[in-house]
Order: sequence, then C-alpha cells, then structure tokens
Amino acid sequence: MKAEQVVLPDASSLITAAAEQFISVARTAIAKRGVFYVALAGGSTPKGLYQMLATSPYTTQVDWARVHLFFGDERCVLPTHDDSNFKMASEAMIDAISIPEDNVHRMPTELPPEQVATVYAATMAEVMGDQPLDLVLLGLGPDGHIASLFPGTPALDVSNTKTAALYVEKFDSWRVTMTYPVINAARQVIVFIAGEAKAEIVNDISTEVVSGLPVQRLAPTGDYYWYMDKAAAGK
Ligand code: 6PG
Repeated sequence: MKAEQVVLPDASSLITAAAEQFISVARTAIAKRGVFYVALAGGSTPKGLYQMLATSPYTTQVDWARVHLFFGDERCVLPTHDDSNFKMASEAMIDAISIPEDNVHRMPTELPPEQVATVYAATMAEVMGDQPLDLVLLGLGPDGHIASLFPGTPALDVSNTKTAALYVEKFDSWRVTMTYPVINAARQVIVFIAGEAKAEIVNDISTEVVSGLPVQRLAPTGDYYWYMDKAAAGK
C-alpha cells in the first residue's frame, strides 16, 4: 500500500514535523476518546523525536496522564541493556515526562521470547479492549523491515495474534514484534525515515525495483505516512 510521503529539508525539520504530528494525533485522540494509545518504534532514528517530545513546548502539549505508551517491537534483552528499545525511549523521553508508570507498557523481556509475546498481547487487550492503536511509529530498516518484521521470517505471516516472537539470524538474537493485523488496524501509521543510508531502500521501494519487503506488505486501514528528510528521500 502506498503511503503519503512527507519530505522535510533536513533531520531537524523532520523531527519537528514528526513531533507536531504526534502532538496533533494525541490531542485528537484524547479529545475524542479520552485516551491516546501509541506504539513507539525502536532503533536510532526515532530517538531525536522522543527527545523533542520531552522538551518544551511539546512536553506540555500532551496530557501524558491520558497516554498509553506501547512498543512496536523489542529486543529480547533486559530493559537495562543498551540494545533495549525501552531503555532508549526511557532515556530519551519517558523518564522526563509526567506519564503514570502504569501507562508505560514495557515488553517483559525478562521472560522467554514466546512468553513475552503472549503476555504483551494480553496486556494490549487488557488496556485497549477492542480499540485499535491511535498511532504506530515505525522505523525502516535497510532491508525493508519495520518493527521486527524481518524479511523471510514467520512473523510476517502471523495473522491471528497481535504479537510474535522471532529469532533474527543476522543479529543472532530474539525479538518480539507487533504483527501486521495490529499495525494495519491503527488509526494512523507513520514510518519515520532519516539519513542518506536509507536513500537506496527508499528509492528501490518508490521505484518498485523491489517487492514483497515487509514495509511493502503494510496495508494500514487508517492514515499512512512516510515522514522523511531529503537525505533519505534522495533520488
Ligand atoms: C528496532 C526497530 C527497527 C528500527 C529500524 C530502523 O528495534 O531496531 O524497531 O525496526 O526501527 O531498524 O532503525 P534505525 O532508525 O536505527 O535505522
């Protein structure tokens, strides 16, 4: 499915535009339903966005008490490990905003991977009931993966659960990821892409040189954007 592409001149303006969009979606959700359910992305790209959301004026523009933070995926390491997406998001934002601890839903990666997936799917159901996520933030890997939906893995074909555990050969590590059904059902999906290193994969996808990549199998039923800087949008 094609996304609406939003291209900003540089990384700084990309982060500002993404922060403004995050705030807008949050405020709309809270105004309409009294709550904002968002799944954060891992990796390095969203870190700047999280840091900006934790600073003025953005941090005071969201009623964090009405926000529930989920994670679109997680590395199966302890939350204190440098590879942990929870650790990255905590240091960049969560520790600096006034969000109730119970509203931050960390994947319990102290458990075995399959149990993490099962427990997390239950947490999502318990917190959100039959509501979809309001916003899913995703990064784009150079191989076209999103969340931890990596090419050639069984997680791509999971259609009956909100989460899946998978072993990622190239990283020799386990991950837990949200699956296509829950991502596609979100009211809005934003793939957040920055830097020269992503220009090739963006170009290959945009010109359909490649097909069937995990990001190309996304089919959001809600609003769907790619927020990029010029360097990533490149060619
Ligand atoms: C993860 C992410 C992953 C990431 C992309 C982009 O846990 O690594 O969820 O999907 O978003 O690999 O990562 P970068 O922003 O670091 O390029």
